Amino acid sequence: MHKTAPQVLSLISKYAEFLPVTLDTPIVSLGEGNTPLVEASSLPKKLGFPNLRLYFKLEGLNPTGSFKDRGMTLAISKAVEENASAVICASTGNTSASAAAFATKAGLDCFVLLPHGHVALGKVAQAIHYGARLVQIKGNFDRALQLVKEIGDKCPVTIVNSINPYRLEGQKTAAFEVIEALGEAPDYLCIPVGNAGNISAYRRGFKLFHEIGRVTSAPKMHGFEAEGSAAIVQGKPIENPETIATAIRIGNPASWKEAEAAAVDSGGKIDSVTDEEILDAYKLLGSSEGIFCEPSSAASVAGLIKHLKAGLIQADASAVCVLTGNGLKDPETPQKVNKVDLSPVEANLDALRKVMGI
Ligand code: F0G
Repeated sequence: MHKTAPQVLSLISKYAEFLPVTLDTPIVSLGEGNTPLVEASSLPKKLGFPNLRLYFKLEGLNPTGSFKDRGMTLAISKAVEENASAVICASTGNTSASAAAFATKAGLDCFVLLPHGHVALGKVAQAIHYGARLVQIKGNFDRALQLVKEIGDKCPVTIVNSINPYRLEGQKTAAFEVIEALGEAPDYLCIPVGNAGNISAYRRGFKLFHEIGRVTSAPKMHGFEAEGSAAIVQGKPIENPETIATAIRIGNPASWKEAEAAAVDSGGKIDSVTDEEILDAYKLLGSSEGIFCEPSSAASVAGLIKHLKAGLIQADASAVCVLTGNGLKDPETPQKVNKVDLSPVEANLDALRKVMGI
């Protein structure tokens, strides 16, 4: 029997009127976007702010497990439209996973440069699995991005880092979805900041929907760098950035100026959070809300808590925390940060009841 193919609405078709595409743009889609906005249950009360209306944008539910897919569907579609044969990116892991998957889907070669020893296991696994040409360099992300720019200048490869103009255009669709889910703009958006592209993209999306009258306000943008990599907060590039949140271990953010403008123009702020604050928020999300995001993503919640306590975020407002990546990418961290005894017990009822205490 003949069956028609299921109609999956790609992000690009859904928001085509707001994106730099034409009817001739070949759409490369893996079913990205349309991620859930989930309301917090116990966290506001637990934190001592019971009147806060708090939502999580679960970007880890994208096809490769992070928000990068929103920008990559557009960057790769445009690369195909422009007859590219290969793409390249530097990455702390998620961009490479996304680039590799979408490039493969489109039949393009994909080269990825990773900072050796500082990429979560699952992300390396993804790049390998999707067939990318993976090179680990003896240097950090900032150095990898410099090299990618040099290669892009000299060789016929398309750069798909967020310096590619299509990336942030695709990523701004997340702001549209937040507005559509809430029926209005939230008062605050809290978001991790690494290379500073995503905060810039959200600001573009919120600003656009405000300007065309879909909503009557735009959220204050509160972005959070990791303290050991807080170039924007310190006002100077960090030569040797460090943080447990490897996805945002970046010392010279590419979208620095646009991110700063996003915070200032919206009435928000870019601040930093310590590794301890990030891990506390990471654990809280698992134990209070049933959410497994990656450590870097929890910087948004760590920052929210910091700014609630400092009075920089109103206690009775609405706030969205962007949880940028899926916790399964980094399966080693929960065992490192929680005290759990995993030694096996005898396989009988008595032994079991004893350890269970029931
Ligand atoms: N959260 C996660 C999980 C990320 O992977 C990144 C960036 C960010 C937050 C920060 O977003 O760079 O737009 O400010 N990851 C990039 C990568 C750098 O290579 O995957 P940003």
